[in-house]
Amino acid sequence: MKPKTENQDRALSNYSFGSAPIYFKIELNFTIYKVGSIQMRKKITFPKPIIVASIFSLLLIIYISSARPVSADDTNGFQLSIRENGKVHLPDVDFQRDWTALGTWAIAADEGTVGAEGFHTVYTQPKSVTAFRKTGEFPDGTILIKELYEAITNEMTTGTVSRASKITGWFVMVKDLNNRYPDNQSWGDGWAWAQFDSSDRKNSISTNYKDDCLSCHEPVKNSDWVYVEGYPILRND
Ligand code: HEC
Repeated sequence: MKPKTENQDRALSNYSFGSAPIYFKIELNFTIYKVGSIQMRKKITFPKPIIVASIFSLLLIIYISSARPVSADDTNGFQLSIRENGKVHLPDVDFQRDWTALGTWAIAADEGTVGAEGFHTVYTQPKSVTAFRKTGEFPDGTILIKELYEAITNEMTTGTVSRASKITGWFVMVKDLNNRYPDNQSWGDGWAWAQFDSSDRKNSISTNYKDDCLSCHEPVKNSDWVYVEGYPILRND
């Protein structure tokens, strides 16, 4: 017989499996201290419920802490765009690639200049489009992002054509059916409202939606403050 190594001596594991129900027991023998040739040993036996609970907890911790990629569509809109006290920020997702472009508004250049001065492209989560087509309403957590572009106009083989160039900022609305932050002046009338300069996606430059947003959205009050006529994709036909 080979002598036990010190490691084996410190922690001996003893597994035994019986017939059903499965019996599973772990015994650990610890050497607590050693004086001369006398060893004090402690034997700990873990009963089955504790082993099962430990394994379950371990699996749960692994599951919860495993870095799941943020899916642009499955994640709740509030997690994506709202921080403490209702502070709105631009969602940390590639909305240009992963979300639905609802439509683009072309802002005509001043008189005497041809083409467009800028474009406003509006994005939302694909699942909000699906829900809107069914119900005619934006579901809780819907994020609308209006992205502002400067335009460049050129003569092309198709004629005089304007295209989007530099991004200059964003307007964001987050649908809130539960009046979540009644004391925050960026929240109200069923939405969180915020405007961002292109240099800062986290801190809005708007402070009070009643002053900064509402009067301009008054014409579309009856369609939940949204210019839905610009978004043919929301129609059911
Ligand atoms: C000068 C008027 C004006 C102001 C101020 C304004 N909006 Fe708008 N907004 C519009 C118009 C008009 C549209 C649609 C056409 C366009 O973009 O030119 C629009 C579109 C939007 C859209 C796209 C969804 C939609 O309603 O069609 C969002 C999001 C938006 N605005 C958010 C905001 C927020 C947030 C504020 C305040 C911080 C704000 N807007 C202030 C006039 C305004």
